[in-house]
Amino acid sequence: VNFGPIIFLVTFFAMAGSWFGLVLTPQMQLGHLQQTNSVAGSGALYPVSRPGLARQGLDVYRSLGCAYCHSQQVRQSGTVCDVYLNDPGTNRAAVLAAISQVNPNASESQAREMLTNSTVPILTGVTRQVADTAVKALSVGGAKPALTIVPIGPDITQGWGKRQSVAEDTLYDYPVMLGSQRIGPDLANEGLRRPDLNWHLRHLYAPRLETKGSGMPPYRFLFTKQKIGRAPSPEALALKEFGPPAGYEIVPTPAAAALAAYLQSLRTDVPLAVAPFSMPEAPAPADTNAPPTNAGPAGVAALKTAAK
Ligand code: HEC
Repeated sequence: VNFGPIIFLVTFFAMAGSWFGLVLTPQMQLGHLQQTNSVAGSGALYPVSRPGLARQGLDVYRSLGCAYCHSQQVRQSGTVCDVYLNDPGTNRAAVLAAISQVNPNASESQAREMLTNSTVPILTGVTRQVADTAVKALSVGGAKPALTIVPIGPDITQGWGKRQSVAEDTLYDYPVMLGSQRIGPDLANEGLRRPDLNWHLRHLYAPRLETKGSGMPPYRFLFTKQKIGRAPSPEALALKEFGPPAGYEIVPTPAAAALAAYLQSLRTDVPLAVAPFSMPEAPAPADTNAPPTNAGPAGVAALKTAAK
């Protein structure tokens, strides 16, 4: 018999199927991705492309294989809500009654504290539904309750990010350095967690200088040892240990400077409609009578933003 047509058909459908699954579907899902707006107060465009030096640093990051040990994707298992009282309003008795209705576990003194101190949550870690009901119940006597959205999950608990990573975060990166192994910590928000450029340079030169017993390999070849001229270079690393012999100094090469700039540029600190979170409470001035900013689309109601 002639198997030719069968082989052709099987091959054709296998190929067509993988094209649909691996090319067409992702293209339909992500191909039209564009800049979007932050759902926090300012509504600024997000993301903006990395500064030029940081963009060069991405290539250094890739060429050195940092992604073999570091991921750049924060996951979250869900979100919970906290409920605060931004403004106790005028009818304190009614609000106090509402507080003990919403949170029956609160003692009377605790309820009073929740009423007067806008940083003490009335409810924490509840579902959206419960929080919405509570906000409704608390909106009595001119009181202004606010709801904050808090992402949760092991990565968030580690302090690796405020929210999960989403496709928008990498819109301007090519290639995307998501990484899959976590020999070292996730770096998706490294620029937020360690904003000090010199920390990164010293850490790249000698990881053990900054982290005791670090298992990260040193990248000494990103630095040059040079004789100190008339005056030390302003770029020279301040090294407590592993320093060069007297009369010499260690300065970063352009590649090291770019890499450090890239590490500093890693930050996903903007809440999006697809990944909302509430901005952290600023060390609040005594009376925060500012009403909560209503943050627009996708049900992200009343993000409690820091009063500026
Ligand atoms: C062999 C695995 C490995 C490779 C490759 C590697 N790292 Fe690391 N990295 C680690 C480990 C382990 C740590 C945690 C210990 C430490 O802080 O030094 C770490 C920590 C870090 C930290 C500090 C993270 C934090 O917030 O504590 C940064 C930044 C970093 N690495 C950047 C890089 C860069 C950039 C490269 C590529 C030039 C790289 N790493 C390559 C394993 C690696």
